[in-house]
Amino acid sequence: MTILSSKYKIATLPGDGIGREVIPIAMKVIESAIEKVGGPNVQFHSFECGGEHYLKHNREWSEETEDFVKNEADAILLGAIGAIGPDGKPVRLPDGNLAGYNVVIGLRMELDLFANVRPVKLFEGVPTPLANKTSEDIDMIIVRENTEGLYAPIRGAIERGGEQELAVDVRMITRKGAERVCRYAFEISKQRHGAPIDATKRVTCVDKSNLLAGCRLFRKVFKEIAVDYPQVQQDFAYVDAWTQWCIREPEHYDVVVAPNEFGDIITDLGGAIQGGMGMAPAGNIGDKKAVFEPVHGSAPKHYGKHDTNPVASILAGAMLFKWIADAKSDRHALQVARAIENAVESVLKEGHIRTYDLCRGKWEKISPASTEKMGDAVIEALGK
Ligand code: IPM
Ligand code: MN
Repeated sequence: MTILSSKYKIATLPGDGIGREVIPIAMKVIESAIEKVGGPNVQFHSFECGGEHYLKHNREWSEETEDFVKNEADAILLGAIGAIGPDGKPVRLPDGNLAGYNVVIGLRMELDLFANVRPVKLFEGVPTPLANKTSEDIDMIIVRENTEGLYAPIRGAIERGGEQELAVDVRMITRKGAERVCRYAFEISKQRHGAPIDATKRVTCVDKSNLLAGCRLFRKVFKEIAVDYPQVQQDFAYVDAWTQWCIREPEHYDVVVAPNEFGDIITDLGGAIQGGMGMAPAGNIGDKKAVFEPVHGSAPKHYGKHDTNPVASILAGAMLFKWIADAKSDRHALQVARAIENAVESVLKEGHIRTYDLCRGKWEKISPASTEKMGDAVIEALGK
């Protein structure tokens, strides 16, 4: 194996708004972790993209950027897209989509990143809005289907006499799409230690199969895949009911799999219970490529204040290295991922340095740290 000599090209796309503040911090943390671990050999390639880029150049990204990101990069770290134009409104493309849409959604579709993996873990020292729940109770991974469902680009609107009369979004579920995302969810559960409540490895299929044909197919395929994983318990919930169970008894959940648009909604709920969107990382995973990002958006109101929590992006960086470790069998990459996670964990647990979103409950008297200070605390904690 040529582990030491391999060099990974990581494209970083800060994008818009607070993406420009948190991604550079995540990069600094990654670079320090690599230095501590003594590898792997990584080259960052940073590019502009999104609404700001569209305002300046009438394109969401340059041709060279698009080519590098899609064809050259081993993995991609993305911030957020969504800028506010001079008229005070979000910058949109002629087709009505947010400028930057073809970066975020385009990459998921074109690189066929079929699983959007979103860990919902409450770290010690982080306030959750759920009464009586602790870090012992909240540790699940939501796997969101990422290329079809309501996000399939089959939509349209009809105008008559200048009035919009009708609009349709077709929701597409395929056997292939369901199979690969369900299999991915079972594979993840196999490697974990089970749900907090009973240490049982469990995958919960969250759907609306009491009503929707696509969800019936999704659930049917889920059950077929489950047969290959006798050591993992099958579990089912309708999405509406799941939202209340997740609040009442989050400790029941180990891995959750859901069609695209349900996955979008329930992972924001997940973000809330793990201490807010500032704590929620994501990995968009395909067979060959992967894009990592914080679940939060560009938060234009916070842009420039340097007050947002960089942890979601830092943890997305750790996920990126975990993915490289698995995809390329690189043990240094795994060490980098672990070092970053451990550093984040210890900063949160220690508790004195935290961004404003985490200064609640027991921690409300602490004066909030800036984005940069929070990043520095993580760097300081690396390798301790
Ligand atoms: C997410 C976001 C995106 C989505 C938006 C920006 C299109 O909400 O990653 O969850 O809906 O998937
Ligand atoms: Mn979302």
